[in-house]
Amino acid sequence: MTDRPGQHERPWWRDAVIYQIYPRSFADSDGDGVGDLRGITDRLDHIASLGVDAIWLSPIFASPMADFGYDVSDYCSVDPVFGSEADLDELIAGVHERGMRLLLDWVPNHTSDQHPWFEASRRSRTDPKRDWYVWRDPAPDGGPPTGWTAAIRRVPAWTFDEQTGQYYLHLFLPEQPDLNWANPEVEAAMHDTLRYWLDRGVDGFRADVVHLIGKGTDLPDLDERQARHPLIEIDPPYAHELLRRIRALLEGYDHQPMMVGEVYLLGDGQTVTYLGNDDELHLTFDFRALHSPWEAAAIRSVIERSQREFAAPHWPTWVLSNHDKPRTRSLCGSTDRARAAAVMSLTMRATPFLYAGDELGLADADIAPENWIDPAGRDGCRAPIPWTPEDGHGWGPDPWLPFPPDADVLAASEQVDDPASMLALYRRLLQMRRASPALRAGDLELLDIGGADVVAYRRSHADEVLEVAVNFGDAPVELPLNGDLVVSSVHDRSPGAFDGIIGAHEAIVVRPGGESAPHESHR
Ligand code: GLC
Repeated sequence: MTDRPGQHERPWWRDAVIYQIYPRSFADSDGDGVGDLRGITDRLDHIASLGVDAIWLSPIFASPMADFGYDVSDYCSVDPVFGSEADLDELIAGVHERGMRLLLDWVPNHTSDQHPWFEASRRSRTDPKRDWYVWRDPAPDGGPPTGWTAAIRRVPAWTFDEQTGQYYLHLFLPEQPDLNWANPEVEAAMHDTLRYWLDRGVDGFRADVVHLIGKGTDLPDLDERQARHPLIEIDPPYAHELLRRIRALLEGYDHQPMMVGEVYLLGDGQTVTYLGNDDELHLTFDFRALHSPWEAAAIRSVIERSQREFAAPHWPTWVLSNHDKPRTRSLCGSTDRARAAAVMSLTMRATPFLYAGDELGLADADIAPENWIDPAGRDGCRAPIPWTPEDGHGWGPDPWLPFPPDADVLAASEQVDDPASMLALYRRLLQMRRASPALRAGDLELLDIGGADVVAYRRSHADEVLEVAVNFGDAPVELPLNGDLVVSSVHDRSPGAFDGIIGAHEAIVVRPGGESAPHESHR
């Protein structure tokens, strides 16, 4: 507790940019076609030279892989497909040597059906672990106890267990039974899993669908419409109590471990409540931008709501891409727009989460539904990262998924020395953010300039002011900003005084200056 940040000291996660790695898809060190921990260690210089502060690894724990690691069969071991525990120790050391931090993905709402806890639980109604999961008698007609639908495959969220004559709850696949966090033994066992990794030196966790752990014993009443999407409709009060105890556990460590929660609620004002009074999650994802079309009005409205709800003392996150959704490049439809999106992500008042591969401008792989391996069809955004231009792109002969389009020209080695590349843009933006208190920590004020296609905002902190504008439209727009152009998403845009025009799909950062300091003019 000794170096717990004081009230006036900014904790590291507020200033950080966090880089998400989907380990199966990142880098393959042993040529088996599936990415692994040594692959990540081998590529740490790529990550460090980008300029990010922390890495979040999607699940690496032992798993039968029904949901590619989000079905955990042992929270305290590394799945052999990713390597050994020694490989993880080496990765942790390599990350720390480079001044970065490592977050693991913790999946508290459900385990694998092959976890020994569930195997015991389903053995008999009197097994001491029976109550570790959510078991219910059939409805009077013999059907499931509630009409809830699972979030993956859209099957009923209950599966009947012949041997013991009851249904168990799974808000995801039948292979992912929900834990019963109302049982204190479950809470204690899951706390132990956090301690195990914290003692081993990890710097925190991304907590999977963490709002759902608060379901309690009396499952919430959902109407028919809500029952179709329990994932985004269950917003249970008991989760807050559980999160306060998790926060206390984390604060017992001196190295400031952080937990960012996947609170998959999309309603206004909902996710912020999971920060509590700075005594629950440190950060919570806000997926409203990810669920919006790449259009000025929609994105402006998301920024407006997120900034209002996460006003100080709160702090928001910014997410445009992850392993569950189409990549930014696919979401916004062109490389130019993806470059503009990068400027927006890295100038936001928020902790930005970048999804590995976005810094290369990768699009989703084009995979026909009959070839999907993922039960929810999320294969496209999980395509392997191309490291080199030749066939194989640095992977074994048979990668688990096909490569994204243009893997030869977008390969990391092709971009690294090209100042016009997406990679070069990301590095420049990360450097700019790191050097700027206004971008890292400043206030954000939306500016009403440039018309319907432009989203513009001012970031300011003490004496530093920067203005950002993003043109979502197909035509250039005149902008009443003057000062120096610090960065443009368009590579060959000449530096120097801003000429008052933002191009189609361009994003710019301007440092106001000169006689008619523009930030005075539109206050
Ligand atoms: C989260 C993960 C997703 C997974 C689900 C179930 O939403 O991001 O990949 O399938 O939880 O664990």
